[in-house]
Amino acid sequence: MTYTVENINFKSVPEIKKCLSYFKTENLYNVEASDFERFIDDLINNKSIDFGKKEKFDSQINQNLHMLDFYWGHDHDFGSFSVNGLMGTRHIWLLSRFLDSFYLDKRKLINSNDILDVGCWTGGVSLVLSQLANKANITSIDEIYKYTYALDFLANSFNVKNIKADNTSLYDIRVRDKFDIVFLLGVLYHISDPIIGLRRIFNSMKPGGVLCLESMSVNSSKRIWEYEGPSVRNGIFGWNWFIPSPKALEQVLYDTGFVDVKVGNGLQDLKVTNDIDPLGPNRVFAFALKDGNHQICKAGLSVDIT
Ligand SMILES: C[S@@+](CC[C@H](N)C(=O)[O-])C[C@H]1O[C@@H](n2cnc3c(N)ncnc32)[C@H](O)[C@@H]1O
Repeated sequence: MTYTVENINFKSVPEIKKCLSYFKTENLYNVEASDFERFIDDLINNKSIDFGKKEKFDSQINQNLHMLDFYWGHDHDFGSFSVNGLMGTRHIWLLSRFLDSFYLDKRKLINSNDILDVGCWTGGVSLVLSQLANKANITSIDEIYKYTYALDFLANSFNVKNIKADNTSLYDIRVRDKFDIVFLLGVLYHISDPIIGLRRIFNSMKPGGVLCLESMSVNSSKRIWEYEGPSVRNGIFGWNWFIPSPKALEQVLYDTGFVDVKVGNGLQDLKVTNDIDPLGPNRVFAFALKDGNHQICKAGLSVDIT
């Protein structure tokens, strides 16, 4: 079965956009609109702030472009000015897909106490969550310091108290049994060690917590994981590319402790769409439950992730 854009139910999009519309310069707190705009402009143009020592590398050779320069993440209309991000409006479509077509219960979202956004970039998804799930504390982590710095600046500028932006790698998540919902969007295929990463996430979740995951995917019905390695050429994302097929993703989620795993194209289980839609082809969605603290098989794992 194939899908076209018309088949996708976008009913949450207006509400998601309403959440984002809070972040307009008219709602700034303790900062002038012109100073705010200049600050964002300086970030985007890599002016005035030297993030070098804050990013965790010794030499620039072979490092991710994002360790070196600043790139805004998601499109945002601040009212008096707009910024375009490398990820466009994907934060809107992604959340709408999970809410409207792929298992995320809005009641669970709005009744959550703690939500984790892993790989938040400059915070497109986190900003929406801070308003939509306004009773929850949103922990937004990214391995790139400058992106959590930017999100922290946004949260402070709009006096948003329920976002905690933290420059932490997902491998360093050490809290246990805390999060009701974890979003892992556009991150899994960039990390070197998916089992370790997913297990750290699993451990951080409450029993009864759910994982919403979106990834690039290999369009294969086999259980395979394609490794392209990091791209380091100028102008190309310098991230690692390590891409699962839907079935490999399903397997790794069960193996890291999750149950009731659903994997699909965001509309239907275990289908990968090649149709043109706002997210592009070969994206895979997964939704998984942590029902309790299960031990996992440690064969071949030399890291303590029990
Ligand atoms: C392609 S972007 C996705 C951004 C956003 N989540 C979205 O879906 O639009 C991947 C993000 O994950 C971050 N990231 C990559 N590896 C990470 C890690 N090990 N721990 C935390 N963040 C990581 C990157 O810095 C980047 O901001």
